[in-house]
Amino acid sequence: MVRGPLLFCGSSNPALATKIAAALGEPLGSAEVRRFGDGEVSVRLDETIRARDVFLLQSTCHPANDHLMELALMIDACRRASAGRINAVLPYFGYSRQDGLTDRRSPISAKVVANLLCAVGVDRIITIDIHAAQIQGFFKVPVEHLNVTRLLVEHLRQLPLDEPVVVSPDAGGVDRATQVAMGLGGSIALIDRQRAAPAATRSMHLVGDVRDRDCVLVDDIIDTAATLTEAAELLVSRGARSVRAAVTHPVLSGSAVARLERSQISELITTDTIPLAADKQRRKISVVTVAPQLAAVIHNVHVGASVLALSL
Ligand code: R5P
Repeated sequence: MVRGPLLFCGSSNPALATKIAAALGEPLGSAEVRRFGDGEVSVRLDETIRARDVFLLQSTCHPANDHLMELALMIDACRRASAGRINAVLPYFGYSRQDGLTDRRSPISAKVVANLLCAVGVDRIITIDIHAAQIQGFFKVPVEHLNVTRLLVEHLRQLPLDEPVVVSPDAGGVDRATQVAMGLGGSIALIDRQRAAPAATRSMHLVGDVRDRDCVLVDDIIDTAATLTEAAELLVSRGARSVRAAVTHPVLSGSAVARLERSQISELITTDTIPLAADKQRRKISVVTVAPQLAAVIHNVHVGASVLALSL
């Protein structure tokens, strides 16, 4: 009997999981995720998974530790119930910004997360636009690393942008901005952020010309929104005609949405790797779904076909 991929989700992003299941034409597996009174996480998969190709969808977004623990427990449950293969699908990979030593006696937290997932028995990781690509090397199992440039560019192409300038808000994001600029047919600019002394505020220097141009800031994460709203201020002060932002992961912590609302950014284009809670939804925020891309990758991984063309 030919059996399809078996998809389950934790509590982080059931809406995305439902869309992926629909795109795959497979029912979403039934699982129960609960909390005990003291906050401990409890999970149970309510389907037979023996010898099946299981895909566990979980974004390790807020509350990151709970979501990470749910995923670790689901992987362990699959291992103990003799799943054939356990694929963890992390549309958003929390802790990815802690990818190196930041100080003496500090951890490399992204490596700790990788160790944890491998220790409980994951066979493969599928993730999107991870903050630092080298995190793939933290895993001893295959990592399928997907890029959403094409998705963001498709949306941007529908907007009235005239000779756009794609702007990276920091030096680390230049490759990402270049990919979007190539897809959109625009040029790039870069904001260089420097700190004169460890405790000093960072000064921003714009490299490139944005006068009378439609600008698109591109980043992997919008968290407090400070990086992008400050960058937008700088672009407007340098004569930009309009500023939009295209960002993969809408972390949007604390007062980020209010800051975005007050900012020079006219539109934030983002994805559903992290669900946008009802109280964060605004007319300024457009969400494009990663569900068809993830469904196609899951299908190809399941049948043993290449995912290269789907990951770009
Ligand atoms: C940092 O290196 C990331 O690429 C983002 O620029 C950063 O996480 C954004 O954070 P925030 O919105 O809090 O400024």
